[in-house]
Amino acid sequence: MRWECTTHSPQETLILGERIGTLLGGGEILLLNGELGAGKTLLTRGIASGMGLEACESVVSPSFTLVNIYNAKLDIIHVDLYRLDPEEIAHLGLEDYMDGEHVLIVEWAERAHGYFQGATADITISHAGEQARNILISTDLPWNQALCG
Ligand SMILES: Nc1ncnc2c1ncn2[C@@H]1O[C@H](COP(=O)(O)OP(=O)(O)O)[C@@H](O)[C@H]1O
Ligand SMILES: [Mg+2]
Repeated sequence: MRWECTTHSPQETLILGERIGTLLGGGEILLLNGELGAGKTLLTRGIASGMGLEACESVVSPSFTLVNIYNAKLDIIHVDLYRLDPEEIAHLGLEDYMDGEHVLIVEWAERAHGYFQGATADITISHAGEQARNILISTDLPWNQALCG
């Protein structure tokens, strides 16, 4: 399925993330795309909150650390591929987390086109104004447009 949500504030994007987070049961790979400042990290923070992570402000960009791990209801593996080339991506050892027990969230997933086999949701965020974002969701998961609120 493929559909688009529009959010009109950071808060709305956070809430969309929370709704997504409540639907995750392990094994999902969420591929996030969109330019710098689109809202990928903010959406991830919402997802973590929806997965029961308290103090979800601790979810920050992994652009320097490359991989951040948050212990929510399930472990969330949060990756940013912005600075990496395909060979470096292959060396992150992410296969270890594609096991049905973790939730893998990948910012700049387009940098690793074809690497994430069995990816379960593609989410592309684009600017639609200062505070507005179009969020295109493409997934085989049993999600639906109700996510948009
Ligand atoms: N509707 C919105 N959704 C998400 N972020 C928004 C929105 N409107 C404004 N923003 C701002 O855009 C920025 C998004 O930053 P971030 O989530 O780090 O982006 P990315 O990870 O894609 O680089 C934040 O400063 C946030 O406050
Ligand atoms: Mg980010």
